[in-house]
Amino acid sequence: MASQTVTEAYFDHSAAKRVNTDTVIVKTLRQEYPNLELVIAPEISSNLLAYASAGHASFTVIEDGGDLPSVVSWKMYIPSARRMDGENGVLADQIVFGKFLYKWNDSEFIVYRIEGRDGSGAYPSVNNYYILSTDIHKANSLCAAVGKWSSELHGEIWVFDGGYWQKNAALYQSVMGSSWDSVILDEDMKKAIINDHLSFFNSQETYKSLKVPWKRGIIYYGPPGNGKTISIKAMMHTLYSRKDPIPTLYVRSLTSFNGPEFSIKQIFIKARQFAPCYLVFEDLDTIVSDNVRSYFLNEVDGLKSNDGIFMIGSTNHLDRLDPGISKRPSRFDRKYLFPDPDFDQRIAYCKFWQSKLANNKDIEFPDELCRAIAGITDKFSFAYMQEAFVAALLAIARKEEGIDPSYEHPLTEEMNDGWVGVLGDGDDLDGLVLWKEIKKQVAILRDSMEEEQ
Ligand SMILES: Nc1ncnc2c1ncn2[C@@H]1O[C@H](COP(=O)(O)OP(=O)(O)OP(=O)(O)O)[C@@H](O)[C@H]1O
Ligand SMILES: [Mg+2]
Repeated sequence: MASQTVTEAYFDHSAAKRVNTDTVIVKTLRQEYPNLELVIAPEISSNLLAYASAGHASFTVIEDGGDLPSVVSWKMYIPSARRMDGENGVLADQIVFGKFLYKWNDSEFIVYRIEGRDGSGAYPSVNNYYILSTDIHKANSLCAAVGKWSSELHGEIWVFDGGYWQKNAALYQSVMGSSWDSVILDEDMKKAIINDHLSFFNSQETYKSLKVPWKRGIIYYGPPGNGKTISIKAMMHTLYSRKDPIPTLYVRSLTSFNGPEFSIKQIFIKARQFAPCYLVFEDLDTIVSDNVRSYFLNEVDGLKSNDGIFMIGSTNHLDRLDPGISKRPSRFDRKYLFPDPDFDQRIAYCKFWQSKLANNKDIEFPDELCRAIAGITDKFSFAYMQEAFVAALLAIARKEEGIDPSYEHPLTEEMNDGWVGVLGDGDDLDGLVLWKEIKKQVAILRDSMEEEQ
C-alpha cells in the first residue's frame, strides 16, 4: 500500500465508525420487546433507583436464567463524610448493568439501567434508564414524576462550587442548627435586617402595584469574625421556617472548567428557576472580580426578569468592590456594617458564654466577670473573643487532667499589671480560674493581633 500523507492518515483515522452503546441497546430492545413501548431517561435527569430507594416505588432484579448475570455492579466503599462520625464508611453497589421489574403507582415496568460510557474515559459517563411499558403514557408519567423528584431538594441546599450546582446536606444541617438567638447584634439592626428580608418576601403584590421589579440586594460588610456568616445562616433558617419556605442558593466560588462567565450564567439561570429565593454570595469581592464584573452586572440588570430574587453579598473589603456594585442602588440597595463589638456587646457575648457554662460546676462565672472580660477585650472581634473563651476552657480542662499548659505563655507580672488600670478593683476576681486563664489567652491573642497589623 502506498504510504499516506499526514493529512490522509489523519482523515482516514478520523473516519472510523462511531461507537455508541445507546444505539446498540435501543436496537436490541426493539428486537427483544417488539410489543413494548420504550422511553429512555438519562440518570442525571431522572434517577429511578434513587426514587425507589426513597420509598416512592419498588424494584426487584429480573433473573433471566442462562449464563449471563442480570446485574453487574461495583462495590464502592464510601468513606464517612466526617471522620468524627466514625472511622467506617459504607459499602454501596454501583450498578453498571441491571434488569429490574419496577413497580410504581400500581403499574409495572421493565427497567434496564445501563452504563454506556463509550471511548476511553469519556466524561461524564452516560448512565441511562431504559423504561419498557405497554403504555407509553405511563412510562412518560413515571419519567416526569422521577424527574420532578430528582430536581427537588430533600434536606439539602443548592451550593455552587467548582462550576456547577450541587446538593449539600451538611450545610442544610448546619443552617437548621443556627438561630438568631446566638447572634449578638445591636437589637435595632437585628430587627431591621430580619424585617428587610421578610417584608421583601411578603410584598410581591406591593411591588407589582407600584410597577417596580420585585428584587432586592443587600451587603453585609465589616472586619472578619463579627457575625456576617452566622447572620446569613440564621436568616436562611428563618426563611426555611416560613409557611411558604424560601430556598437559598449559596455561591461559594465562580471557579469552573468553563470560566467564571459560564458560572455566572448558571447561577442566575438557577436563581430565576427557584425564585422566590435567597441568593447568597459569600466574599463578594473575591467573587465579582474586575474580569467578571460586566457579566455579573449584565445578569443583574439585564433584560431577563430577576423577580423574586433577594441577593445578599458579604465582604470584608467594601472598598475593593467596584462602585458600580457597592454604590448603585437597584443592584445592592442597602448595606449593613458588622463592626467589632463595643463594650456592651462584649458584655452580652460574655453573658452568652455565662449561660452556656451555667451547668458546669467546675467553672465559677459571676456577673462581674462579664464586665471584667469585656473590659480587657477592646478591639476584639467576636471571633477573637470566642477564641479566648475556647482556649481558656481548654487550658482549664487540661490542667484538671494534670497537664499544665502554662509553659505555652506564662502570665508575666508585666502583663498582669497592664490590666490593673483598666479594671480598677479587678483584683477581687483573681481567685477565679476562668478569669486567670482568660487574661492569659487575651494577652496571647492581642500579641498575635498586633503582629498581624
Ligand atoms: N455577632 C456575633 N454574635 C455571636 N457570635 C459571633 C458574632 N460574630 C461572630 N461570632 C462568632 O465568631 C464566629 C465567626 O463568625 P462569622 O463566621 O459569622 O464571621 P464573619 O463576619 O462572617 O467573618 P468573615 O468576614 O471572616 O467571613 C461565629 O461562628 C461565632 O461563633
Ligand atoms: Mg463570613
